[in-house]
Amino acid sequence: MNIYQADIQLAAARHLRWMPDSIVVTEDEITVSGWALSLWDGHDQQRFLINGVDFDQVEWPIASPDLLVPFGDVPRAATSRFRCRHRRADGRNLFPDGFARLNITGRFGEHRLSYRTAWYVADPAHEQDMPSPGQIERVIGAGNLPAFLFGGATIVKRFEQLLLERFDRPLSSFQSILDWGCGAGRLSRYLSLVSPSVTGIDIDADNIEGCARTLPGARFMQVGLMPPTSLPDEAFDLVLGLSVLTHLDEPVQDAWLEELRRVTRPNALLMLSVQGLAQMALYGTPLELHLEAHRKGILDAGANSQLQDVIADPSYYRNVMHSPDYIMTRWSRWFDVLDIIDGTAGNQDIVLLRRRTD
Ligand SMILES: C[S@@+](CC[C@H](N)C(=O)[O-])C[C@H]1O[C@@H](n2cnc3c(N)ncnc32)[C@H](O)[C@@H]1O
Repeated sequence: MNIYQADIQLAAARHLRWMPDSIVVTEDEITVSGWALSLWDGHDQQRFLINGVDFDQVEWPIASPDLLVPFGDVPRAATSRFRCRHRRADGRNLFPDGFARLNITGRFGEHRLSYRTAWYVADPAHEQDMPSPGQIERVIGAGNLPAFLFGGATIVKRFEQLLLERFDRPLSSFQSILDWGCGAGRLSRYLSLVSPSVTGIDIDADNIEGCARTLPGARFMQVGLMPPTSLPDEAFDLVLGLSVLTHLDEPVQDAWLEELRRVTRPNALLMLSVQGLAQMALYGTPLELHLEAHRKGILDAGANSQLQDVIADPSYYRNVMHSPDYIMTRWSRWFDVLDIIDGTAGNQDIVLLRRRTD
């Protein structure tokens, strides 16, 4: 066994634990299929839960020889797919607070930290207008609308739970929220349901125009590739930046961290995501790249062509990896780095930062 490879796979089994690849909600039922990894629990100990209650029907385990490629060192990876179904019987509200919470746990069920592996689906009856497949593809790499929606709902709900866990603060307690690199509004569409003051900014003019047209509960603004923006000083007390710094080289990163410092209030909180081991496992990132990122601290793995039709400089948008030690030291020039939480931002890691008062 290659111990480096095993470390990456363990991160997926520990921190992602499971992922849906399809969630379908109809008039009559919800069906979910995907894969689930477990290190210590036997197959007979897995529980498949919706809003904390066991699914009506579970097919598990289903053969998954394809999972041997990313997770070959994880026990039982070849039999780790599932399909579950839950009916909308009388009196059952599948979306109690507007969302259904899906989770796979060991035999003890959910606990205080289970939100970190839960996936959330918003009630389709209350969804707002949708972006086009092309707009979605530019931000998640595929024009998959259901994955865009459950990914966005999940990240917002997990961020909300993290803020409650660490600071006892609901999203609604923040006065002004910045969705930095909002893309096609994956987070803003759900943030704007709980906060009247969400601002989304992005360098992608087409996505900004689409968000402004379809999501009336937030405001949107195109920004240039390099700061400063026209946003006022100390405008925000919460900033979310999902998979933005995973695309900027070091000089651009530093300039934007400086800008985020300028536009945040003292004690503001920031949650910026980076590519960690869990995502590397999922994407099959070559081990050598991970080792190089770890040793250098920040690794620019090359240009990313996803924005080539919408930005003037095709070399701007990169694929970038960071090491935790680098983040802890470099980013603390601008913010207190409070924590890095593995695999919680969809499949990326969350860096939790606080703006200093000086
Ligand atoms: C991987 S996408 C993620 C989009 C969105 N945060 C989400 O999770 O769906 C990265 C986004 O960051 C935007 N972006 C890249 N550099 C940026 C910058 N310096 N300022 C604002 N947005 C930026 C891109 O246009 C793109 O929409």
